[in-house]
Amino acid sequence: MIPYKTYISIDRSLQKAVYMQIIEAFIGLIKKGILEKGNKLPGSRVLAATLGVQRQTVVKAMDELIAQGWLESKQSKGMFVASKLPLYQPIALKGVVDLPTQSFVFNQSKVLDREEIVGSYGFYIDEGIPDVRLAPVETLMKYYKTRFLKPVDRFHSYSDVMGNMELRKALTHYLKENRGLHFDLSNILITRGSQMGMWLACQVLLNSGDVVLVGKNNYISANIAIQYTGAKLIEVDHDEDGIQVDLVEKAIRNQKVKALYLTPHHYHPTTVTMSLERRMELLNLAGHYGVAIIEDDYDYEFHFKSKPILPIASLSDWKNNLYIGSFNKSLAPSIRVGYLIGRTDFIEEVAKLRRVIDRQGDPLMEYAIAKMLQSGEMDRHMRRVLKQYKERRNYFCERAQLELSNLFEFKEPEGGMAIWAKINKVTSIELAKILAQKSVYINNGLMYDHHQEGLNCTRIGFASKSISELAYMVDLLKAI
Ligand SMILES: Cc1ncc(COP(=O)(O)O)c(C=O)c1O
Repeated sequence: MIPYKTYISIDRSLQKAVYMQIIEAFIGLIKKGILEKGNKLPGSRVLAATLGVQRQTVVKAMDELIAQGWLESKQSKGMFVASKLPLYQPIALKGVVDLPTQSFVFNQSKVLDREEIVGSYGFYIDEGIPDVRLAPVETLMKYYKTRFLKPVDRFHSYSDVMGNMELRKALTHYLKENRGLHFDLSNILITRGSQMGMWLACQVLLNSGDVVLVGKNNYISANIAIQYTGAKLIEVDHDEDGIQVDLVEKAIRNQKVKALYLTPHHYHPTTVTMSLERRMELLNLAGHYGVAIIEDDYDYEFHFKSKPILPIASLSDWKNNLYIGSFNKSLAPSIRVGYLIGRTDFIEEVAKLRRVIDRQGDPLMEYAIAKMLQSGEMDRHMRRVLKQYKERRNYFCERAQLELSNLFEFKEPEGGMAIWAKINKVTSIELAKILAQKSVYINNGLMYDHHQEGLNCTRIGFASKSISELAYMVDLLKAI
């Protein structure tokens, strides 16, 4: 008999059940050849005493080892290592002697590389994200639960790849009333958010070598989605009124341009709102030259200055316009519901692609959002949140202008969730390092400076923090 007590050590401090530890130990002994085919095992009573465990525990482990084919029990003879063991060694392929030496290769894309936050910090100065504590979780759950608990019906099965019909209907109405967008059900596809809308639109619209115009230092994930198709980016400068239309026109005259990607409501990263005049001019240019406008309106609701300017798509006949929206900022980033609106033939093509990536969204959550839109609860929620974000912007901007002006300069944004700060005295990288020493995260600004031109700017989010948290943040920054 092999010294089981030496070979099998039971550790009760582990999360793993004792019988599982016995199973793994026996499999290990067999794999290593310490126990061989046909070897007889001690009886369960003896083994239990040797290992210092209950007899039932040993019996449970043995039963499982028999079921898995490692052991066999022979009537009135006892327990043996199985004469035919499960396959646990690779089988040599015909003609291949050394195994295994090869591993498959896969595509690794430089285009997809993006800096991620690593490490954990005590305090995060984010780049402009919503305050998830304000999310209307209870209202959403009320509708979600009601629909979920109804007798199981087709709702729980595969459904329309275009998204929940109730939500699509609610949005045709809501976006007409709130944003002046006129479209039919065949023009709207529900997505998991703006990013998915953008990715799908780019895949269907763009071919390798196509030219897409974007603002300088444009939102990095949009650039990546565009470049991943093989399309080429041409950057256009922008000023306090948004992207410069004369430069857009010049670029369009110089070469065939396929599309123009815009975040006119709040340019990412600078937060600038594009003027109505420029929106009209761009629409006319797009119509004249047959250029698609991809309008990413990811945070339309968050505008603090009277009424937001209507989207470019609201002025269009949809011939050249694609409109992307999302609930991930207005509700919470975890919700993952957004939409893409465009010409029927385009949306039909996008739906085919979506079907093979993500068969459908989350019909229950989409239904719950539809109910919030229909009942007016979405409007009430938005008013509540907007009021808070406005107060937070005002508080932060006022204190920052008074007390942090030697650290950075900025212009109070008309909307959005962050300020665009031009840092003084230190570099944005140094600032990030100094704060990291105090366990505080701030973006080091590199992701906004695509050409390493020494932009020395970063985004500082105010929306996700309460007034007292903002006060703490100002004090933190003041201390350096
Ligand atoms: C300009 C821009 N577009 C799209 C997104 C992605 O939004 P979503 O969470 O809806 O996918 C973001 C996220 O911050 C963004 O800043």
